[in-house]
Amino acid sequence: MKLVNKIITGVAGMAMLASGALAEDLTIVHGSVGRDQEVLRRQLDTFEAETGNTVTIVSMPESTSDQFGQYRLWLAAQSSDIDVYRMDVIWAPQMASHFIDLNPLVADIIGDFVPAAVESQTVDGKLVALPLFLGAPALYYRADLLEKYGESVPTTWQEMTDTAQLIMDGEHAAGNTGMYGFVFQGAAYEGLTCNAQEWINSSGGGRIVELDGSIEINNPNAAAALTLAASWVGGISPEGVLNYKEEDARGVFQSGNSVFMRNWNYAYALAAGEDSPVRDLFAVTTLPSGGEGTSSAATLGGWNLGVSRYSEHQEAAVELVRFLTNYENQKERAIVTSRPPTLTAVYDDVEVAEQQAFIPLWKPVVDNALPRPSAATLRSYNEVSSAFWTAVHNTMSGQGTAEENLAQLEQELTRLRGARW
Ligand code: GLC
Repeated sequence: MKLVNKIITGVAGMAMLASGALAEDLTIVHGSVGRDQEVLRRQLDTFEAETGNTVTIVSMPESTSDQFGQYRLWLAAQSSDIDVYRMDVIWAPQMASHFIDLNPLVADIIGDFVPAAVESQTVDGKLVALPLFLGAPALYYRADLLEKYGESVPTTWQEMTDTAQLIMDGEHAAGNTGMYGFVFQGAAYEGLTCNAQEWINSSGGGRIVELDGSIEINNPNAAAALTLAASWVGGISPEGVLNYKEEDARGVFQSGNSVFMRNWNYAYALAAGEDSPVRDLFAVTTLPSGGEGTSSAATLGGWNLGVSRYSEHQEAAVELVRFLTNYENQKERAIVTSRPPTLTAVYDDVEVAEQQAFIPLWKPVVDNALPRPSAATLRSYNEVSSAFWTAVHNTMSGQGTAEENLAQLEQELTRLRGARW
């Protein structure tokens, strides 16, 4: 049997050689949240069948900060083991030198992509990665519970806090003691940077680093936003929220144990899935703001595909990147995982609208999403973000007040700016 297989493979191999196309073994490194990898594997199977190449997935931990650490090691070692990297929207300025310039290789299709997504991956004119999907978070809420308690959908953080507390107390009194008010990403990692940037920016506290590189983060509005957030821990949010990443928050909300949740778009398809206990009970709205004179802020997220400079299969790797971002595959990804596409036309697709109404509904939020300061801080972004999430995490775990931690953060950011960016 084995021999027969070998002969058949040999014949197929010769046919490919004759046609000039050599089968190649590619490797893609890819983080895993929700159903991302299930859809990826299915699409890779099609790519393999169409091209004769094989593609192996190297799976990464959920935390984008852990992925960043691992990628840096591979890239610094100029490893040829990985051909395609799935990269967070914030990494392009820091990692640009390790990737090939995709511009000349996608010139025929780049005009179809959302311009802001392309811009986020362009560093000094070089296209570091091709946008795969975008992200802009929502406030998920239990519509049934708001109705039960006669509460309206909150538009400010204070209203959300009060409503969460009221419903939580009511549910506890009725014996539903597992109920919490609000879950989000509170662990000390990049996810907390995204959450806290939203609390602060939507409360009139500005950006972590302003667009012109100035540092205004040590201000009363930012302090007030962090003080309110610190009050959630052990109150409307479980103590454990300080260790929560995306999937921890989703687990609590989807099992019916939280009134509100801040999460990315992928959670929508899963919470609305057939096996979800809350499938007919929840809805989404934009994240709250600080009230008068302020407006909601949703951090811009998303992932992109870059081809390593050290890859020995660059041509096939580019083909793979183009394949995974093509219309059909983006459409499938939008429908199955509710990830916002990077091709403008997919937002207008009738079947997408029918099967995943969240996508067209969320287009304006995606369009107006707030970037993190990775362009302003260049090679220092990871250190800037880590200083920021540390200040926030310390405040929320009772190590110093918001004012103290923001004053220290200001000094740390000033030092980083002086040293490098
Ligand atoms: C999501 C976003 C990404 C962000 C991360 C933080 O994966 O797409 O941009 O950095 O969450 O946890």
